[in-house]
Amino acid sequence: MKHLLSIEELNATQIKSLIDDAVRLKAQRGSHEQPLTGQTWAMIFTKSSTRTRVSFEVGIRELGGFPMFLSKNDIQLGRGEPIQDTARVLGRMVHGCIIRTFAQSDVVNFANLSGVPTINALTDDEHPCQILADLLTVRELLGGWNGKKVAFIGDGFSNMTISWMWAAKRLGFELVVACPADYQPTAEFLKKLDAPNVTITQDPVAAARDADVINTDVWLSMGQEDQQDKEHAFGPYQVNAALLENAAAGHLVLHCLPAYREKEITEEVLEKHASTIFQQAENRLHAQKAVLVAIAKG
Ligand code: CP
Ligand code: NVA
Repeated sequence: MKHLLSIEELNATQIKSLIDDAVRLKAQRGSHEQPLTGQTWAMIFTKSSTRTRVSFEVGIRELGGFPMFLSKNDIQLGRGEPIQDTARVLGRMVHGCIIRTFAQSDVVNFANLSGVPTINALTDDEHPCQILADLLTVRELLGGWNGKKVAFIGDGFSNMTISWMWAAKRLGFELVVACPADYQPTAEFLKKLDAPNVTITQDPVAAARDADVINTDVWLSMGQEDQQDKEHAFGPYQVNAALLENAAAGHLVLHCLPAYREKEITEEVLEKHASTIFQQAENRLHAQKAVLVAIAKG
């Protein structure tokens, strides 16, 4: 594996292998291999982060490498130096790069021009590292995703939903996305996805009915903070106790965090499912270490 740019570009074998290795690295924490010894990995972030930044910094160190965090304001990217030039400079110095930014094309361009392994740490289009951690959590707590029904309640065309839709396409589990009419995936995207196991509805109860996993995310993603009007459409799409009454016995509630309590999820539900949600957050570390190990193997 050279890069991790999206879930879309992975196949089922690659996803399963990454999750298998994440399970192993989690069990062997403190005593596993250190394939990044002697390597420096740049971490370019143009958006805020707690989980992604900390899990990558810790994970790179645990694998023997040195993380170099570069917020956009620390480097000339923040003054307008193009990503293409940043890529060609860093590619001559570091061994890999992790990027959180807006345009997916910036991550793809960086990968192509830098020549070094590049990992998407969230763009407007995908959040692949998060979905790998989510799948690991589902496997740990439900034994796997085969035959499971996953519901995503909220923004139907955010980075999280798009990555979940690609995961469902690749792995074959049932995914129902419940979202307002104005925030559905585009027809063009759904045609490209071409996944009969992924359905879109405006009915959150239908999505939640008999679901094994109920997943949500913020209604306003980073960069959309000025779109407060958007939130008005999402009232019926809150993950609350009444909605969860429709879910299967033993269902999981997932939230990638950070959460806005009493918006996309109630305080009551978040706290009731805190052990799952914070296990999901911890799993960012193990899943991303699996990605780094796979890249180190080439
Ligand atoms: N879930 C997630 O990516 O969290 P951060 O924004 O804190 O990195
Ligand atoms: N959809 C959210 C995910 C945050 C981890 C965002 O992009 O802000």
